[in-house]
Amino acid sequence: MEITYFGHACFQVTIGDTNLLFDPFISPNELAKEIDIKSLNPDYILISHGHEDHVYDVELIAKQSNATIIANFEITTWFNNKGIEKTHPMNHGGSWQFDFGKVKYVNAIHSSSLPDGSYGGNPGGFVITSDKGNFYYAGDTALTMDMKLIPLFTKLDFAILPIGNNFTMNDDEAIFASDFIACNKIVGMHYDTFGFIEIDHAEVKEKFNKREKELFLLNIGQTQDIK
Ligand code: NI
Ligand code: MN
Repeated sequence: MEITYFGHACFQVTIGDTNLLFDPFISPNELAKEIDIKSLNPDYILISHGHEDHVYDVELIAKQSNATIIANFEITTWFNNKGIEKTHPMNHGGSWQFDFGKVKYVNAIHSSSLPDGSYGGNPGGFVITSDKGNFYYAGDTALTMDMKLIPLFTKLDFAILPIGNNFTMNDDEAIFASDFIACNKIVGMHYDTFGFIEIDHAEVKEKFNKREKELFLLNIGQTQDIK
């Protein structure tokens, strides 16, 4: 599957001819100013939780692309009230078969309020299974034992995990998470965007290498094919 990084926690994953966009926060991100959000045309926008650094560009991109929003019930309702009708509400433990594959909404340990202070439901992550491959997008989360449930049902090809510390787990814990989910190909997210979450790329990559794991730290705008 092809994965393109748009900075912070925002990725597009292409499954066949379907584009899934996760947690778009592009226009306020200084590091992502080369990205033209008007060029984005996803089929689905998946949102892990309500925080501004995960939903900032959702409304604009959903309206220009007519994409379907997949998120917890509280977040989809919030966007319904902004005039976006194409939404698919979910909640923890539930899964749904879409045209591109199956989405399961899984636990994340974090918080979730929307930018106007509205309740944002419980934060989560997504496990996607498809005939092109399987992956886990963790969202913002601490390391949690619940991650051990994922490989009981799904053999992952790669996982997108937060590594930046302060608001989420750090790189050392992401290595444990990689063991918990039985997946050695990890794409890092939620680092470098703000002062609290800056990381030393070489040092972090070396830690993963020592454990015989591969850590992808994509450049913003870069597309990588991960199998
Ligand atoms: Ni957050
Ligand atoms: Mn965040």
